[in-house]
Parts: sequence; structure tokens; C-alpha cells
Amino acid sequence: MYRTKTCGELRLADAGQTVTLAGWVQGVHDLGALTFVDLRDRYGITQLAFNEDTAAELKEKAQRLGREYVVQATGVVAERYSKNKNLPTGEIEVNVTELNILNESLTPPFTIEDNSDGGDDIRMKYRYLDLRRNAVRKNLELRHKFAFEVRRYLDQQGFLEIETPILVNSTPEGARDFVVPSRMNPGQFYALPQSPQTLKQLSMVAGMDRYFQICKCFRDEDLRADRQPEFTQIDCEMSFVEQEDVLQMFEGMSRHLFKTILNIDIPTLPRMTWADAMKYYGSDKPDTRFGMEFVELKNQQPDNASRELVESIFPEGFGVFDSAAYIGAICCEGQAVLTRKQIDQLTDFVKRPQIGAKGLVYARVQEDGSVKSSVDKFYTQETLQVLKDKMQAKAGDLILILSGDDAMKTRKQLCELRLEMGSRMGLRDKSKFSCLWIIDFPMYEWSDEEQRLMAMHHPFTSPKPEDVPLLDTDPARVRANAYDMVINGVEVGGGSIRIHDAKLQQKIFEILGFTPEQAQLKFGFLMNAFKYGAPPHGGLAYGLDRFVSLFAGLDSIRDCIAFPKNNSGRDVMLDAPGYIDQSQLDELCLKVDLPEA
Ligand code: AMO
Repeated sequence: MYRTKTCGELRLADAGQTVTLAGWVQGVHDLGALTFVDLRDRYGITQLAFNEDTAAELKEKAQRLGREYVVQATGVVAERYSKNKNLPTGEIEVNVTELNILNESLTPPFTIEDNSDGGDDIRMKYRYLDLRRNAVRKNLELRHKFAFEVRRYLDQQGFLEIETPILVNSTPEGARDFVVPSRMNPGQFYALPQSPQTLKQLSMVAGMDRYFQICKCFRDEDLRADRQPEFTQIDCEMSFVEQEDVLQMFEGMSRHLFKTILNIDIPTLPRMTWADAMKYYGSDKPDTRFGMEFVELKNQQPDNASRELVESIFPEGFGVFDSAAYIGAICCEGQAVLTRKQIDQLTDFVKRPQIGAKGLVYARVQEDGSVKSSVDKFYTQETLQVLKDKMQAKAGDLILILSGDDAMKTRKQLCELRLEMGSRMGLRDKSKFSCLWIIDFPMYEWSDEEQRLMAMHHPFTSPKPEDVPLLDTDPARVRANAYDMVINGVEVGGGSIRIHDAKLQQKIFEILGFTPEQAQLKFGFLMNAFKYGAPPHGGLAYGLDRFVSLFAGLDSIRDCIAFPKNNSGRDVMLDAPGYIDQSQLDELCLKVDLPEA
């Protein structure tokens, strides 16, 4: 037997027992008469002691151990002289009588401790060493528990876990596909699923009633902190449901997860329409841990977020505001104390190319109630008082204003500013959770790149029945039976009620610009299936990585993925992707112009 106990379980009550432990050497402390070795495994750290009574040969062996050597030690559990209150095993040590070196180790390229000295790249290259660190390992433990509780809940609700294939077909719409050449079908390619969307719908046609799968999805898109090219979804679908049934079921699942994993009782999830989310937060995934909603000071551009025209509160005089289609502002409580320099930094922040605002106007409410602004020379104090009232600002508050000729673009800029202020003001506490549903998404959004309407969610989403007539007259205004769950400004999941009628599906494809032949070629399998008695159905998918990272308070989903890819989509540990042999290329009938070596 390699071990009788793990490195995390011995306590004072075990004193006197003879035990055998196995693990990795975290460190050796040679104090002359005494030598201590910290032995680590997944469960914890136990101190091995070599004292005056230890045979000299054994002690020397201990002193020669290097970091990360794999050893087996047998000895007697004893109460420690100086206890370590920070360690669950901190009251005991093991007086070693036998020590076996099971394997040696090179000196690791970084320290395997909570605060490692290794940079990101080196830790990713040696991810198997990084995973030995507590901080990373505990994220994987949380992920396991999370997936386990998901399965428990869905199983209790009668969902069947059904596997769907990984080698599927490329589908238009959505992100770019990863493709796999087929040797047996020269010139043809599989695509890896961006999600099992159509397959789960087919499982509803097949009468499975409640499906789920914790599955890998693949999308060849630009990567960010919350995006990986391969990620995991908790993918779900239900038959004979309306939107309300789906929201209830999955609100229940979130409640179960918060309770069993974090012991937090979450309140009933508020529901916000997409239009309100855009109007008041400039985002379809608002961080509602704090207020600071937008106030429209002028809006001459009716759109899907707001059909109301708002006359400017500012009289003519300041060219930038006069010509703007939209002026919006936020009120930052108590922030009038910001110095000129700090406000300049905020101005630089909104002017960064990623945000793209032209400038930032500010107004401070002074202690006496008067308003001092960066546009004082254009406006009277009376106008500035109107601004103050409109913003419901008090003495000590700072009003930040952005304007632009495109309402939606300006709202998005103001959203970034709001989030930045929220962070600076300490309002985005990672241990607080604010969950909500965003509902009534538009069916379509205009793509400048493609110069056509694109499905905002995906082409299988059903329109709201009351908006169906608009499909013929004003499709851009049609709202969908689609919903997202948002937590702390992160879209953790989303779904919709699907179209189950072949004719309506055909029409939606037409609006998306597919000819009937193209639609048949790409989606015939689905539309044909719908002709054989498709039940009404709907569902959603959560991003497991995102949900777990929120629970763990992580900044990047990478930290809860065992072997993630970097921002260029590379696995630096495996050095993938890589070139393949000419013989493999030949077999696949692929011609590749390799870059010069
Ligand atoms: P959607 O595309 O919204 O919907 O994806 C569902 C959820 O998956 C997560 N997610 C990602 N996580 C990490 N990296 C990525 N690149 C990534 N892309 C998406 C998000 C998102 O909310 N088939 C539909 C679901 C449905 O309608 O049932 C779908 O895939 O958390």
C-alpha cells in the first residue's frame, strides 16, 4: 500500500498512530538538529519531522530531498511543539521512521505555492505543475462540484443526459467553425459543433422531452477573458413549454447551485426587457450590483432601445451637444471630490480606441448646491440646475455626460464608463451576486459587415406571436421569445423558445437571406424533421466556465479550465495547433503551402 492516510486528514486525535503518507515535497527546512519536510498532495500538507531520535542516515536522506520529489514516508503522528493555526493539519507532525523516494524531480520553473513567482506563460507551459497549486486546484474542485450539482438538479427534474456528436456539419450564421477534413470523403469536412442546438431540437422531435448535456462547444472567434475557443455548455431543452416554464426551471437550477455550493439564497430574479437594459445600462448584460442608470438628456434617434424622442435639456450653444443625436449621463454619488487629473484620466479612458468616445463632459455639484461643469461657458447656472434635477444629483455628486451621433454607440461607451466608475467606487464586489433575466430580445440585428439582418440569437428562435405580423412589414422591430441569464454583468446563459413549424422556419431563413434551395441544403434535416410532428419546445444553454468563474471570483475563465488555450488560441503546453506530416496531408487530399522553415 502506498499510503494509509492523505496529507490533509491527520489531526491531534490521531497522535500515536503509525501512518504512511505519499506526496510531493513542498519544501525542506533544515534547522540542524531538526529537519522538517512539508509533504503535499491534493488534500493538504503534512509536516514530516526528523529529530534528534531519527537515525542519522534517514535524516541525511531527508535533507537531500529536492522540491517536488515524490516520496513515501512512514512514521508516528505526534503533537507539534509549535502549532500552525493556518493549516488544518497544523497541530500534528509525523516523526518519520522510513522514507522512500518514489521519484526525483527537476527543480520546477516556478514556485508551487499560492502566490507563485511564475508568470502566465511559464505557468501555462507547465500547466501540470500550476495545477498542483492550491489556488488553481480548488477551482477545479469547485467546477467538479458545480457540474455534479447541475446533474443532480436536472436528474431530479427528469432530464436525460444525451450525448451528441462532435463531428457534425458546418452551419452558416453564428461564429466561425473549426473544421476537420474527412479522409474517407475527400474534399469534405466535418465541423465541430458551436453548440448542439439543432441536435437537441431533434431530440425533442424524437420525444426525449427533457434533454441536457454538459458538452464541449467550439467557436473560432476572437478570444477574451470570458471566451475560449473550446468551452463547456450546460445545454438544455424541454418539450411542451412556454418561456415562463423555462425561466422557472432554470431559475430553480441557479437557486440550487447558489445554495448548495455557496450557501447563498438568491432572491427571485428580476426580469428586464432588452430595450430597458440598453436604455438604462447600454448593455444587454448589465451589471446590476449597483445603480447609476443612464439618464437620457437628449435622444433624437428612436430605435429598438427607445422609441421615445427626448428633447435636449440644453439650449443651443455648445456645438457638440447641439449636433448630437443622443446625450446620456450617469450620476456618480460622492465623486465630486475627483481631481481634475482623475477626470482627465477618465476622459482618456473613454477616448481609447476600444471605446471611441470623442470626449467627456462633467459637472460637479458643490456643497452649496451650485453646479460647476466643464461646459460652464456655454450654459447658465439655471440650465445646470435643470441638469442636476434631471440627474437627481445631490451635493458632492459628479455627473458624467457623453454625447454622440449614434445613440446605440454612445450608450455602449457610457456603459464602459459606468462600469469603470463602478469599479473605482468599489461597487463591484465579487462576493455579491446580482442575477436577472433579460427578455424580449430583438429577433434580428443589422450587420454592417454583411449588410443584412442577422439573427440576434440564432435562426431557430421563435418570434413573439404578437410581433409575427411585423415579419412582413418591419422585421427589424420583431421581438423574439429569447432570454439570457445575467449575473454581475456576465451573460452566463441564454436560450429561446424555438420555431417548431416548418413554414415559419422557412420564412425566417428567407428574411435572413437564404434562398429556399440554400435553406434546404443547410437546414433541410431540421425542416424535414419538423414535418413529422415536432412538439413545441424551448431551452437554453449556460456557459459552465463562466458560471464557475463567477462562483470562484475569477477574472478569467481560463483559471477554472484544467488545460486552457491562450489568447492566440494556442495550447502552449501541447504546442497545439501544429503541422502534420505530408503523408497525412496527402491522405486527406489537402494541399498546404507551408511557410518557409
Ligand atoms: P449562446 O451562443 O448564447 O447560445 O451560448 C450559451 C452560453 O455559452 C457561453 N459561451 C461561451 N463561454 C466561453 N467561451 C465562449 N467562446 C463562449 N460562447 C458562449 C455563454 C453563453 O451564454 N445554442 C444556444 C443556446 C440555446 O439557445 O439553447 C447557444 O449556444 O455563457
